[in-house]
Amino acid sequence: MVKQNLLHLHSLGKTYKSRDGLVTALAGLDLDIHQGEIFGLLGPNGAGKTTTVKMIMGLMRPSSGTIVFRGQGLAMADTRSRFGYLPENYRPNPNLTVGEYINCQIQLAAAPEKTAPAAELLKMVGLAHCPKRRVANLSKGMGQRLGLAQAFAGNPDFLILDEPTSGLDPIGQSEVIDLLIAEKEAGKTIFFCSHILSEVARLCDRIGILVAGELRFLGTVDDFLSKWQAADLDEGFRKEVQCARS
Ligand SMILES: Nc1ncnc2c1ncn2[C@@H]1O[C@H](COP(=O)(O)OP(=O)(O)OP(=O)(O)O)[C@@H](O)[C@H]1O
Ligand SMILES: [Mg+2]
Repeated sequence: MVKQNLLHLHSLGKTYKSRDGLVTALAGLDLDIHQGEIFGLLGPNGAGKTTTVKMIMGLMRPSSGTIVFRGQGLAMADTRSRFGYLPENYRPNPNLTVGEYINCQIQLAAAPEKTAPAAELLKMVGLAHCPKRRVANLSKGMGQRLGLAQAFAGNPDFLILDEPTSGLDPIGQSEVIDLLIAEKEAGKTIFFCSHILSEVARLCDRIGILVAGELRFLGTVDDFLSKWQAADLDEGFRKEVQCARS
């Protein structure tokens, strides 16, 4: 079956200019994301994963290269309306209650009428018991769950999640994985970054491994394990990173 390309990154590059000097975070990334797949972008700290995500979301301008979605250049309005997005270190407005916050997000979504009711979104992420709690008083993992709930507002068909299980307890991690599998089965496309390799192995149709801004591997988990003759993703990941740095 021919895979349909949804998102195409062509020679995407980013060099930050700051008081520390120039930092090349991404060096000419070529990547296609296929309709209906779960794609995991992996890499050690500072590899360029969040930089890639922010450029796809239109939150940051690329220094070079192009981003094409369904055959067209991406405008900011497209990303807002078409993508469900969970940023890294998600910080919801602390002054609202959980229920108020999620209702706001539903109203802001491009297609509020397509969204499940707030109570259902909160149930999906295990927050149904506390709609009246103030966001400021949520634990870290509860805040992360709320972030996931807002990513589903508007029922987007493409989800971009930067470390979706960060801060979640083991049960929460497993629930989120099950949720993402259910979303894929419902036809969604999911692009996510993660350091939790066991969940990546369980979830992903394909992975990409970035090290120091360069894509070192692109393919299935099985292909990756064969490449390094590794027993699991941890072993392969270690070997890939060591090889890139040597
Ligand atoms: N605003 C910025 N100004 C200057 N350098 C930056 C900026 N944001 C990121 N960088 C640098 O770009 C590189 C890539 O950072 P990025 O946040 O994309 O990494 P990451 O792969 O998401 O890492 P992590 O796994 O820690 O989340 C790092 O060297 C980082 O220091
Ligand atoms: Mg990051």
